[in-house]
Amino acid sequence: MQAIKIGLFGYGCVGQGLYETINNSKNFEGEIKKICIKNPNKARSLSADLFTTDKNEILNDESIDVIVELIDDAEAAFDIVTTALKNGKSVVTANKKMVAENLEYLVKLQEETGRAVLYEGAVCASIPIIRTLEEYFGHEPINEIKGIFNGSTNYILTQIFSKNTNYKAALADAQKLGFAESDPTLDVKGYDAKFKLSILLTHAFGINVPPAQIINLGIDHLKPADLEYARENELEVKLIARAKRIGDKVYGFVAPQFTKADNRLQEVRNEFNAVSLTGEFCDEQLFIGKGAGSLPTGAAVLSDISALSYDYKYEYKKHFNQATIKFSSDSLVQV
Ligand code: HSE
Repeated sequence: MQAIKIGLFGYGCVGQGLYETINNSKNFEGEIKKICIKNPNKARSLSADLFTTDKNEILNDESIDVIVELIDDAEAAFDIVTTALKNGKSVVTANKKMVAENLEYLVKLQEETGRAVLYEGAVCASIPIIRTLEEYFGHEPINEIKGIFNGSTNYILTQIFSKNTNYKAALADAQKLGFAESDPTLDVKGYDAKFKLSILLTHAFGINVPPAQIINLGIDHLKPADLEYARENELEVKLIARAKRIGDKVYGFVAPQFTKADNRLQEVRNEFNAVSLTGEFCDEQLFIGKGAGSLPTGAAVLSDISALSYDYKYEYKKHFNQATIKFSSDSLVQV
């Protein structure tokens, strides 16, 4: 097999994680040929020859096989990803906002161009949840998907409950550790978890639900009295994303919820994420793994790059009658 030549956009926390995972992988045959960055004056440990500020130098380079998009600007990311597909290149991205807000169009563009966009790193980082839904559950309808989809808020809540630290200090730590988005309000207000839920709704139920249609409440709404109530009653709080199918209707939301000691999600700590899938035949499966951070996300991106080497594509299978299945985020009590 020929070594894969990668054109990388962004060299922040995840881009550096990808670089490190490629360097330390024992059997990955590929290399990063060029990296497009915004600020050429930032100190970097790699040779300056590897970097460019001209996106076209990568997008028009015929020797580059795969474009990897790891920037945090969703609009610029959309431009890079769609141009790459139109130029005949497959893409790996970890930009959940961009994917969630444009998924229907990206599916269409993949069909038209015959190229693939893979985005496992965009949803719960190291947990291979999209491929699990696509492959393992290729013939089994999903009844429910729920869990902890945001590492920063889980880290903050863990610190608050186990170390008795305060919200502000825990958030600052989550930023320092590279878990939080560059705009951390996306994490704490539940948007990040909602983008991931929106993407999983497509792979679990075959329905396209733009993020704007999903209700999200963040942990910024928690009051000292809520935390006190939790402590007094031996509860904790987790930011839960959940979607459940009842007949032809899928209900979904993101909101903080109290958990008891017997809830397996309560044991999921710090930047770890958890996804619980309930299939029609196999019942519940629980997946736990690091949902944020340089190496866990870099590893998911590397896995996608590797999958492209054997022409892997998402199939977007539909298990339900698409004419009748509807989404609702308006009645939280029903799930
Ligand atoms: N900000 C995200 C999180 C990063 O905290 O989960 C991974 O998507």
